[in-house]
Amino acid sequence: MDLRSLLRDDLEELEEYVPVKPLDVLAAEIGLPVDRLVKLDANENLYGPHPDVLAAIRQAPFHIYPDPGQQALRAAIARFAGVQAGNVVAGTGADDLIDILLRLVMPKAVAIATPTFGMYRFLARISRATPVEVPRRPNFDLDVVALRHAVHGGAGIVFLTSPNNPTGNPVNLAELDALCSLDALIVVDEAYVEFGGQSVVPLIAEHPNLVVLRTFSKWAGLAGLRVGYSISNPELARHMMSLKQPYNVNVAADAGARSAIAHWPEISETIACIVAERDRMAAKVAELGWLTPIPSQANFVLFAVEGRPAKDVAAALRSRGVLVRYYDRPDLANYIRISAGRPEDTDALLAALSAL
Ligand SMILES: Cc1ncc(COP(=O)(O)O)c(C=O)c1O
Repeated sequence: MDLRSLLRDDLEELEEYVPVKPLDVLAAEIGLPVDRLVKLDANENLYGPHPDVLAAIRQAPFHIYPDPGQQALRAAIARFAGVQAGNVVAGTGADDLIDILLRLVMPKAVAIATPTFGMYRFLARISRATPVEVPRRPNFDLDVVALRHAVHGGAGIVFLTSPNNPTGNPVNLAELDALCSLDALIVVDEAYVEFGGQSVVPLIAEHPNLVVLRTFSKWAGLAGLRVGYSISNPELARHMMSLKQPYNVNVAADAGARSAIAHWPEISETIACIVAERDRMAAKVAELGWLTPIPSQANFVLFAVEGRPAKDVAAALRSRGVLVRYYDRPDLANYIRISAGRPEDTDALLAALSAL
């Protein structure tokens, strides 16, 4: 039997999503123990989850199926975000919500303001939507005119990120307001909003086509648990609920997310430490003279690298156990992105950079 003939015909054209490698694999590749690695390549929270959140996860009722209606979780998120439970849908990370939206709209094309998070493009291709990349302006602000053209050209969803990954800048609210008048779903991914930048959630009341995505992966240190949510017009949320996988949020993720919300006051102190460390890291790295930080409102900083290839810088840091992300492509030529960690992580980064 020709197995290939049974499968979708565009498999060879799909692009692979290149994820960061697991810690143990990286440690084995580099030849260092896992605890010597300084992981500043995936915008994770190096403080990890709050101990009480871990305790809540352990006590989750693992022997029963989760609530497909996500009642307790949606209510907790709604109180946390200052909206109604009917505005909220939870998912297996923000990535799940991106996928749900693509399946809800089934657009023939989507507009993506680049450079940005690669998942929009990856999931769009899988949903057979053409990703239309709309380059940001030289200062990384949105090109509103070009985004409008993309929608007029058939894009049914516009993916925006605020603060943007990897550039760290937020969307301009007046520009977003103008974009919301377009005939398309406008998705604003606020995965990093707890670290800075103004939320666009208040605009949802005026714009039924605006959807905000959030996650527990970054601020709550729960990237491995996979839980995120959307806030939108209730009608849209209802349609998303009817289309999602019924058990998309597992019982551990449900318990962990609700406990993180309950411990927001303590966790927000850690967030303040990460923000302070981001700014110290940016200033100290800039002092080296060959790395220029782009102002960031997220838990990472993008640096323009001068005088040497960013790829070589990332490789040299890697050999010293410090993991960062590099970019070398037309819209982001010769940059590295470094996540903000704990003070000792910044110190290790600075020592490794100074040794280059
Ligand atoms: C902009 C953006 N959105 C979403 C995500 C992923 O969120 P989650 O872990 O909730 O799927 C990331 C992760 O890096 C991101 O950078």
